[in-house]
Amino acid sequence: MSGLSNVFNLLAYLAAAVFTLGFLNKVIVYFKTPSPLKIATTPAPKSAFGVVIRLIPEILFFRSLLKGGAAEKILWVGGWFFHVSFLLIVLRHLRLFFYPVPGWVMSLQDIGIWAGLIFPIALLILIIRRFTNDRLATISLFQDYFVLILIIAIGLTGLLLKYFVRTNLVDVKAFILGLISLSPAQLPDSPLFVIHFSLVLILLVYFPFSKLMHAWGVLISPARAQVDNPREARHVAPWAQ
Ligand code: HEM
Repeated sequence: MSGLSNVFNLLAYLAAAVFTLGFLNKVIVYFKTPSPLKIATTPAPKSAFGVVIRLIPEILFFRSLLKGGAAEKILWVGGWFFHVSFLLIVLRHLRLFFYPVPGWVMSLQDIGIWAGLIFPIALLILIIRRFTNDRLATISLFQDYFVLILIIAIGLTGLLLKYFVRTNLVDVKAFILGLISLSPAQLPDSPLFVIHFSLVLILLVYFPFSKLMHAWGVLISPARAQVDNPREARHVAPWAQ
C-alpha cells in the first residue's frame, strides 16, 4: 500500500475520533450548563412528552422559522432544502459503505441524485442571503462563510465526480470498507475523490467546534425544550441548590 494511502487512512481515523469525542464532549458541556430561568416560549407544553411533540415539527419543518417575516421565509427555503437534500445525499452515499447494499438504500438512489443537484442551489441562497441583507452582513463572521463555502465545495466536487471526472467506485468502496473493517486499503487513484474526501474530513474535524453543533442544540434549546411548570415545580439551577 502506498505511503499516501497510509496517511489518508490515518487521517480518516483521526477525523472520526475528533468528531465523535468532540461531539460527546460538547453534549456533556451543554448538559452541565445551568439554565437558571424558566424561559419556555408560551404557550408551552406542561409535560416532557408534550415537549417531544412540540419539537417534532420544529425539527422536521423548522416551524418557528416559518412564522417570521420575508427574510425568515428566504432563510426557511434555503435552510430546509439544504438540510433535507443533505440527508438524502448522505443516505444515497450509504451504498459506498455497505456490502451488500440494503434495499432501502437502493430505493433512495434516484431521489439522492436530485438532492445532489438541489444542494448547491440551497447553499447559494444561504450565502447570497448573507451578502445581500445589510443587517446580516454586519453580524456575519468568517466562520459563517467558511462553513457554507466548505459544504458547497463538498457538493460541487461530488457532482464533478459523478458527471465529469468519473472515479472507479469499486476502488472507492474497497477503500471505505477497508476503513470500516479496520483493515486499511489502497486510496483510490483519483485526485478529485481525494479532494472530495479530504473536504469531508475537514468538515468532520470542524463540526464539534462550530455553530454546526446546533444539530444537537436544537433539542435542548430552553425556549423550546423547557416544560412550562413554574407553578407546579420550583425551578432551581444546579449551582444554586
Ligand atoms: C458531507 C458529506 C458528503 C456530501 C455532502 C457529499 C456530496 C456529494 C454529492 C452532492 C455527490 C454527487 C451526487 C451523488 O452521486 O450522490 C457526491 C458524489 C460522490 N461522493 Fe460524496 N459527499 C459526502 C461524503 C462523501 C464521502 C465520505 C465519500 C467517501 C466514500 C464520498 C464519495 C463520493 C463519490 C465516490 C461520489 C461519486 C458517486 C458517483 O460517481 O456515482 N462522498 N457526493
